[in-house]
Order: sequence, then structure tokens, then C-alpha cells
Amino acid sequence: MRGFLFLCILGTAVAKYLNYTWDGPGLENPEESTADEMCLMDRGSCGCCAMKRQMKLLEQYFNHTVIELSRRLEEAEETVSNILVSRSAFSVALTDSWWCFGPFQKEIVVKYQVIFINLSNDYNKSTGVFTVPRSGVYVFAVTVFSDSGSPSTPLAACISFRVNNQEVASLSEKNDQDQEDSSSLVLTFALKTGDHVTIYLPPGCFLCDNKNHYNTFTGFLLYSTD
Ligand SMILES: *[C@@H]1O[C@H](CO)[C@@H](O)[C@H](O)[C@H]1NC(C)=O
Ligand SMILES: *[C@@H]1O[C@H](CO)[C@@H](O)[C@H](O)[C@H]1NC(C)=O
Ligand SMILES: *[C@@H]1O[C@H](CO)[C@@H](O)[C@H](O)[C@H]1NC(C)=O
Ligand SMILES: *[C@@H]1O[C@H](CO)[C@@H](O)[C@H](O)[C@H]1NC(C)=O
Repeated sequence: MRGFLFLCILGTAVAKYLNYTWDGPGLENPEESTADEMCLMDRGSCGCCAMKRQMKLLEQYFNHTVIELSRRLEEAEETVSNILVSRSAFSVALTDSWWCFGPFQKEIVVKYQVIFINLSNDYNKSTGVFTVPRSGVYVFAVTVFSDSGSPSTPLAACISFRVNNQEVASLSEKNDQDQEDSSSLVLTFALKTGDHVTIYLPPGCFLCDNKNHYNTFTGFLLYSTD
């Protein structure tokens, strides 16, 4: 009888310590205190059956916890895999050796030829177009530089930043006092899968570059929204 009493008290003590219930962690189980009281008042009922019931409760609690943890692990793995497949980043520069692009009479797409990074080939070097791989919020940065060759010669470092051929921002540094000038922009934009982002050189503008990479175009996905 003493042994049974000990087992019974041990069972309810473990149950109390672990706070397990029929409904899983965090909820009070009314049956627990009844079993406890029965155990102390009526020693006859405190035997194998009561102990087995406690052990079953404990097993259910563990089963519930394992299922819940597996579900959360699956969710976390899916989130990580979504982040990995949606990575998108490119960073390009105009050229590697001394070269001036423009001026032209008509506007023309600027095709950056030096690729620093081009994750999943979303920037197409032969068209100069960045195609948005999936809807999300993107960050872009553009830096332009030009050199007129000598002071008092007209300088025109300018570009048009376009999304689906609509201008959303531009850079314009035109004067005839400086020999060199540069200008830059950074913007954050919500875009949809398949949108096109392109840098245009407006008529009369020209960009000059060399291996120092004064003209760069960068974009990356901040977070996806689909
Ligand atoms: C059990 O629950 C009580 C009250 O809800 C709490 O104070 C205690 O920390 C819990 N014990 C464990 C091991 O979670
Ligand atoms: C706990 O899970 C095991 C394995 O899935 C199962 O055999 C057992 O019956 C479950 N126990 C309870 C009390 O649900
Ligand atoms: C880049 O554009 C060219 C010309 O439109 C096309 O032939 C080529 O398939 C494109 N490359 C990629 C990776 O989409
Ligand atoms: C993307 O960049 C890589 C170099 O990192 C280059 O080999 C590839 O041709 C580029 N893709 C396109 C479509 O231009």
C-alpha cells in the first residue's frame, strides 16, 4: 500500500510539474486535482489504474508537443526555402576601359557590360533590362558620371529610370563649367512579376567610364509580397 501511495503521489507530482492537460500545454486540467484529492483521501483507489491514467495523460502530452513542434518546424523550413528561391540581386557597371556612351539624337537604353553580380540572370546584359522575377519591394541605386574632356565644354550626365517604359525618376547634371560631374539616385519600389526596369540615355546626354566604374546600376529584392 505504501508503494502504491508513493507511485500515486509521484505521478501527480510529475503531472503538476509538467503542467500537461488533455488539451495540450498551457491549459488547466480539472481532472488532475480530483485525482490528487482522491489519492490522499481514498488510498484504495490509488493504485495501478490511477497511475496508468496519469501515464497515458503524460504520453498524450508528449505526443501533442511532438506534433506541434513538427508542424512549426515544417512552417519554418518552408519560410526559409521561400526566402532562398526568391533571392534576386544584380549590380552592373558601364564598362571596363575608357569609353564614352553618347550623345545620341534619340534616346537609347544603357546596356551595362560589367557584371558584379547577376543572381538568377534577372539582368539581361544584351538588352539592358532587369526583369522582375517575383512581386515584391525592390531597392535600386544608379550612379552616373561624365567627362566633357575639358572645362567650359558642355557636360550632360543624365539618365531616365523607367519601370515598364514609364519614367519614375531621373538624373540630370548639365552645365559647361565643370569638366566632370556625377550624380546618383536610390529608390525603393513595389514591383510585380515580369515588370521591366531599364535605364535610358535621353538625347544629348552622355556617360563616360573606365575601370573605376563610375557608372553603376544596382537592384535587389528587399522582400517578396507573393
Ligand atoms: C506550471 O503552471 C504554473 C501556473 O500556471 C506556472 O507557474 C509554472 O511555472 C508551470 N510550470 C512549468 C514547469 O511549466
Ligand atoms: C503517442 O504516439 C504513439 C506513436 O505515434 C502512439 O503509438 C501512441 O498510441 C500515442 N499515445 C497516445 C496516448 O496518444
Ligand atoms: C536576353 O535577351 C536576349 C535578346 O532578347 C534573349 O535572346 C536572351 O534569351 C535573353 N537572356 C535571358 C537569360 O533571358
Ligand atoms: C548574368 O551575369 C552572369 C555573370 O555573373 C553572366 O554570365 C550572364 O550572362 C548574365 N546574364 C544575362 C542574361 O546577361
